[in-house]
Amino acid sequence: MGAARWLLIGRGHLGSFLKTRFSVPEALHWTRDLDELDEATLRKLSPTAVVNTAGKTELSWCEANAAETFRCNAAAPLNLYRRIKAAAGEAIPFIHVSSGCVWDGPYRADGKPFGPEDPPSPACFYSWTKAAGDAMLLREAAGGKLAILRPRQVYSPLAAERNTLSKLRRYPKLIDTPNSMTSAETIARTVDKLTEPAGAAAFGRILCVYERGTTTPFEVGMFLARAGLRAEPELIDKSALDRTLKPKRVDTVLSDPFFEALVQPPKVQDELRRVINHFREAQR
Ligand SMILES: NC(=O)c1ccc[n+]([C@@H]2O[C@H](COP(=O)([O-])OP(=O)(O)OC[C@H]3O[C@@H](n4cnc5c(N)ncnc54)[C@H](OP(=O)(O)O)[C@@H]3O)[C@@H](O)[C@H]2O)c1
Repeated sequence: MGAARWLLIGRGHLGSFLKTRFSVPEALHWTRDLDELDEATLRKLSPTAVVNTAGKTELSWCEANAAETFRCNAAAPLNLYRRIKAAAGEAIPFIHVSSGCVWDGPYRADGKPFGPEDPPSPACFYSWTKAAGDAMLLREAAGGKLAILRPRQVYSPLAAERNTLSKLRRYPKLIDTPNSMTSAETIARTVDKLTEPAGAAAFGRILCVYERGTTTPFEVGMFLARAGLRAEPELIDKSALDRTLKPKRVDTVLSDPFFEALVQPPKVQDELRRVINHFREAQR
């Protein structure tokens, strides 16, 4: 997607990655509150697409600040979508970054991975607000150009607090439970595809966004150790970890044949090794 007229919202881990990746100019990078992005500003900026990466993401903070979390993750994106429609009609693609954490797994009750059509099973307030935001947006945008992306454990070379590599570098003990993971580069490639003709069918739907296969926090910890970025992790049992964390950690494995055909994501271990190399360089 040509970044020239693309409005990027959010200044966190993913927003910072996409800003650099697409060379988004300052004028088209919205770093203030979602609710301050009014119709007049949208008309003036006249973007060809809007990508929303803003949201409250710290699980304990979300539990303790329920109203503000609901505002930022559910109400504000819906109201923004309404203002985009009022300013420019339904033609502008709105790409909203949600989360694979709306499902509490790692697998469905029948042992299969979660797909876009599966009903959410949120295990914490953050996940509830992401699922509610998605449901309200899908209802509001029926027939419009909305695409909801559900990544899982986002990672990049950036030295950011929300980078999953930064988190897995810190914890001494890690579980060996299967999970999907999502490179910020895979999200960027998905955003790119959504404006190509082949991506038109992605609007009006949820896309699970991830690399092929599964990994585990322990395996990533071992990759980081081999890269000299941490000591080898100790293994901790999932039930033992659940007893120490409130809200508990969510594990989720995703599957979405539509997404895989559209984006052709790499194998998760290959992408992890590539990104960890860049992550190590960024620490120097
Ligand atoms: N990190 C992951 O592994 C992961 C996994 C799946 C999905 N996601 C989703 O991906 C998106 C980006 O996450 P991230 O990793 O970049 O998280 P992040 O680093 O926490 O970035 C989110 C940014 O949104 C900002 N924000 C919160 N409420 C806002 C509002 N009302 N208006 C404007 N900005 C607001 C936050 O600012 P403050 O810090 O000031 O609140 C923060 O800068 C989020 O929607 C998240 O739910 C993330």
